[in-house]
Amino acid sequence: MPHIQVLPDLLISQIAAGEVVERPASVLKEVLENAIDAGAGSVEVALDDGGVRRLRVADDGCGIARAELPLALARHATSKIASLEDLEAVQSMGFRGEALAAIASVARVTLTSRAADAGEAWRISMPGGEIAPAALARGTVVDVEDLYYATPARRKFLKSEPTEYGHCEDMFRRIALARPELKLQLTRNGRLVHRWLAAAPAERVAQVLGEEFTAAARALEVQAGPVHLSGYVALPAYTRAARDAQYFFVNGRFVRDKLLTHAVREAYADILHEARHPAYVLALTLDPRAVDVNVHPAKIEVRFRDARGIHQFIYHALERVLAEPLSAAAAAAPAVAASFNLPPPGAAPAHPRFQGELAVSEGGVTQAAQRYFDAFALPRLGAAGTFTPPAAGAAGPGGAAAHAAVPLGAAAAPALPRESPDSAAAVPPLGYALAQLAGVYVLAQNRAGLVLVDMHAAHERILYERLKSVLDGMPAAQKLLIPAVVAVSARDMATAAEHAATLDRLGFDVAPVGPQELALRSVPQLLARAHLPDLLRALLEELADQPASRVVEVRRNEMLATMACHGAVRANRQLAPAEMNALLRDMEACERADQCNHGRPTWVQLSMADLDRLFMRGR
Ligand SMILES: Nc1ncnc2c1ncn2[C@@H]1O[C@H](COP(=O)(O)OP(=O)(O)OP(=O)(O)O)[C@@H](O)[C@H]1O
Ligand SMILES: [Mg+2]
Repeated sequence: MPHIQVLPDLLISQIAAGEVVERPASVLKEVLENAIDAGAGSVEVALDDGGVRRLRVADDGCGIARAELPLALARHATSKIASLEDLEAVQSMGFRGEALAAIASVARVTLTSRAADAGEAWRISMPGGEIAPAALARGTVVDVEDLYYATPARRKFLKSEPTEYGHCEDMFRRIALARPELKLQLTRNGRLVHRWLAAAPAERVAQVLGEEFTAAARALEVQAGPVHLSGYVALPAYTRAARDAQYFFVNGRFVRDKLLTHAVREAYADILHEARHPAYVLALTLDPRAVDVNVHPAKIEVRFRDARGIHQFIYHALERVLAEPLSAAAAAAPAVAASFNLPPPGAAPAHPRFQGELAVSEGGVTQAAQRYFDAFALPRLGAAGTFTPPAAGAAGPGGAAAHAAVPLGAAAAPALPRESPDSAAAVPPLGYALAQLAGVYVLAQNRAGLVLVDMHAAHERILYERLKSVLDGMPAAQKLLIPAVVAVSARDMATAAEHAATLDRLGFDVAPVGPQELALRSVPQLLARAHLPDLLRALLEELADQPASRVVEVRRNEMLATMACHGAVRANRQLAPAEMNALLRDMEACERADQCNHGRPTWVQLSMADLDRLFMRGR
């Protein structure tokens, strides 16, 4: 039996350092957090060789008194808490009194500091621990050299300079986003990389994540009692293939927490393709007593006292902001420039085909919307099995022929008046339809310029949202006069038997009439005219593939989405201008209308400036 013996202090520190100092980026995190806790307004970071050879952080915070320099580097010594009550209500980033000691056990550390009220600065170096006078106007400089010189085995796990530098820069960005009021500078091997002045939160987000992110993001700010959530969530068009733009801060601390990530993911579930990742910067603030930050060695996870409540709060806040109907951006866009010369209303000859048949007034458009709604309720547009084949000659080479539904300024598409405050205000956000392109896209003109709509995707989203809201609970069923007999696979037969109750709740009355034949005796009313065999098979497929544990709600939504897809207007179906305008109006009123159920965009805006750029006008 080997003897039990107490470990030497240095070895204890080195073991503990394993948890705190995983790589240069974790050193940077600890040192930056100390600067924040010291109340710094400005922080400068210099990294040599990815922070391995040298990592230097200078702040203008409160500094450390000469007498306390050795304590700053000692284990379990902290100025931030003194009792258990303090720990439970901790607001500072640090509280263990562990970080500098851990770093000093695996690297050479020099601490130079001048306490706020002191006449001179002092320095302490580890190993050794001698204290000597130094020159420093204020604050603290932490110099970390030769990381892992003392533990060569760990050094082997370090990656290349670009990788380690990259991790450090990530850390730097997190701090920058968490503290917009902080002036920050980052130098890499002597070259200045970032210099960010103190900024408003929105400005800082743009500095760190780029204008591209801010342009695609929606701001949110929600308060529920003592809990506050603010930040930016990107619309699905911006979302990423990687999880590299996900920033969640709890009381100013960056966390990567399962509960929070899950709540965000759920909020995006309905609009995001599963292979994509949401992009967001979110800051949650709450009473520090309601959250335990002392559960993870790197403090990257937290535990909420009311986990469920927080999950629901975040989910609903995000779901709401992501669902908001068509971006105010389109509505708020500047009126089309005067250079866009529209013929005065009525001046252009109306397209002969539509002459006389179309409404001119706003009322006409509303009527058309009503007609469209009617068409949807008896799914004329949704007759999946009966879509119109392309008209002869309609599809030109490459299928890119435009059906000129109506010329600019003619009746169906009320000409956009030239800039005049009242008339401009009357133009709906997505404007009026101009034409249909290749049986796939609807072209419309709004105040900002040209709008392109993927009509199937847009219609699908509208149907889906309507199914979800109108059909409170389950879709109403309609008995079929003559049951439809559908040939299915053996697997489908089994699925139908197993999920009979679910199918029934969804309005599908299905009964076996042969070894591989199902009779469909009723279907959801809205789909009475869809292609029933396809619809049934698709539903059975989904039922068979989904793990049984999945909640009925999700299943229902997926089925509604399937229904919406089957019900949505197919390509090559030629829409009348009134139908196109009605589609645009429906999109404006529809939640989440900016993306189809699969997270693809349903429309894009080409502003006059975009078009001018395309044609190199005004250069
Ligand atoms: N940049 C700084 N400015 C002023 N004081 C500092 C600075 N860095 C460290 N200190 C002092 O040194 C002490 C030890 O720092 P250290 O990071 O090791 O522990 P901590 O921040 O208290 O807790 P944690 O281990 O959770 O980070 C701090 O409590 C603080 O008093
Ligand atoms: Mg600390």
